[in-house]
Amino acid sequence: MQRILGIETSCDDTAVAVITSTGKILSNILSSQDDFHAKYGGIVPEVASRKHLELISVVLQEALTSAETTLSEIDLIAVTHGPGLVGSLLIGVDYAKTLSSLLGKPIIGVNHLEGHLLSPALLHPEICFPFLGVIVSGGHTQCILVEGIGQYTILAETLDDACGEALDKFGKMLSIPYPAGPKIEKIALAGDPNVFSFPLPKIREKRFALSFSGIKTAASLIIQGMTPEERENRKEDLCASFQEAVMKQIIHRIQQLIPLYSFSGIAFSGGVSANQRLRDLALQHVQKPVYFPSRILSTDNAAMIAHAGYQRYLINGPMALDFPVISRLELSQ
Ligand code: KG4
Ligand code: ZN
Repeated sequence: MQRILGIETSCDDTAVAVITSTGKILSNILSSQDDFHAKYGGIVPEVASRKHLELISVVLQEALTSAETTLSEIDLIAVTHGPGLVGSLLIGVDYAKTLSSLLGKPIIGVNHLEGHLLSPALLHPEICFPFLGVIVSGGHTQCILVEGIGQYTILAETLDDACGEALDKFGKMLSIPYPAGPKIEKIALAGDPNVFSFPLPKIREKRFALSFSGIKTAASLIIQGMTPEERENRKEDLCASFQEAVMKQIIHRIQQLIPLYSFSGIAFSGGVSANQRLRDLALQHVQKPVYFPSRILSTDNAAMIAHAGYQRYLINGPMALDFPVISRLELSQ
């Protein structure tokens, strides 16, 4: 049994995990910077990289202690090298490279999206290829046919905002602190999803494409037409209706893809896959087995990076120490 150290610093969370080659999570530590960024209404890249620098050694130590592991017992170092904020990625990658060269351990750069895509398998090892991977996060909304490790075909993706980004921007209109997605979910529990109507976008050129900018504009017009009191009083219904529109669009696109492609089931991943309304809608309306990561593995974490890194390592072996960070890394690269 091998031990894999995962390091994730692509955005605003500093995360380190230790997992085994059989997918057992020995530790999965995350230090969120949400409070620092909430006051600016979004992530400030400069603040994010400075915080990563402050936190990374502490988070590493905690991950090792909680896994009852020492650095000498680590067999592979997996680190996110894209996509993400360059300054943030560089902190994690340079740190991992230093560890690799000091300890003489192999290292592999991991695509953050591949980390999400393969994360449901940590909870559901029974998932088999081919499956439909649905990444719903703050940066991406993609439906991907996964035929094997590295064999990915994007079947549908957003033309504009990612679904999590749309939720965060909608939250900002109602002064809900960043990241708004989980807070909208809580507020929506007390609201009626049918009060405000945000219709499904009709996209002529690309049948399966997703789009969230139209409903975002519709929400903005409704909110601008309200007094501050109305906004406050109707917050629950606004959140429930907007969340419903976002989640239903995702489910609708999956339903369109099901008869056209052959796959064993649908594996959701990314921060928005933590959303209970999405989970309920998927279980009710998707006529195929559906898989979700545990909630902690839905949002950014280092266990998924260790897992994806190990799967890639089995196929490609380690990387040379000079691999770059790539802020716009695609899944196919
Ligand atoms: O995967 P993630 O942690 O980071 C990216 O790779 O983007 O996703 C973050 C996104 C944010 O937009 C956040 O608002 C959203 O996921 N999110 C949620 C929930 N938890 C996180 N959206 C809806 N419901 C949630 N429970
Ligand atoms: Zn992510």
